[in-house]
Amino acid sequence: MAQAAEPESRSVTKSTAEPRWWIEPVATVVAFSLFVLYSAWDVLFHNTGQYQNYISPYFSPNVGAWLGIHTIPAVLVAWVPLFFRASCYYYRREYYRAFFWDPPACAIAERPRLYRGETKVPLVWNNLHRFFLYLAIIVVIFLWKDAVQAFIFPNGFGVGVGSLILLVNAILLTVYTFSCHAFRHLVGGGLDCFSCQGRPTARYKLWRRVSEWNRHHGQWAWISMFWVWGTGIYVRLLLMGVIHDVRFF
Ligand code: FES
Repeated sequence: MAQAAEPESRSVTKSTAEPRWWIEPVATVVAFSLFVLYSAWDVLFHNTGQYQNYISPYFSPNVGAWLGIHTIPAVLVAWVPLFFRASCYYYRREYYRAFFWDPPACAIAERPRLYRGETKVPLVWNNLHRFFLYLAIIVVIFLWKDAVQAFIFPNGFGVGVGSLILLVNAILLTVYTFSCHAFRHLVGGGLDCFSCQGRPTARYKLWRRVSEWNRHHGQWAWISMFWVWGTGIYVRLLLMGVIHDVRFF
């Protein structure tokens, strides 16, 4: 008589693969460091960021020209996007993990305890984020002016590679800025009920739109950062004569 088959073993195979938790903090350190180093070089060692009708986002708006200051004028405006990004809720998470390792990732033990919260100096200044948002909105308005200007050449309307780069730059920075958590609170906070008046209000619709963008705020943060970086490099290379702009018409 044939014997009954042995029941299949229920033992669980334990994965021996190491979790790759360190990839994100390491990539963040590399990307942030290179971005900050390039930005500092462009802002601190150049007196202009304008090539014909293309204006580098690092140099816009040209506050230096308004004040008659022509030496490293980008310093007068670059601090706004710098502090806006540095105090961004998403970026805080990223650089607290990447630079302070406190903790470096979910379920990873804290290393030396450097993070002391945002109630004490120096991180307490991050609570000013909403005020940097107001300033950043003003900068975004000027970036749209620059995007329009990028299509206006001495001989009239035209489209160059730079025109498209500056246009995409304005779009990405608009979405990044208006997907901000502080902006979402501005349009939807301090309110118990949107629909108590019986129908969706304009404010409710705006809040829904902002909430949709806000869900991907981290992605907008990275994409817009790389695009600003690339836009600045493009205009700088044009100014240095390393490359030439291609006009489509
Ligand atoms: S939370 Fe990221 S810009 Fe405000």
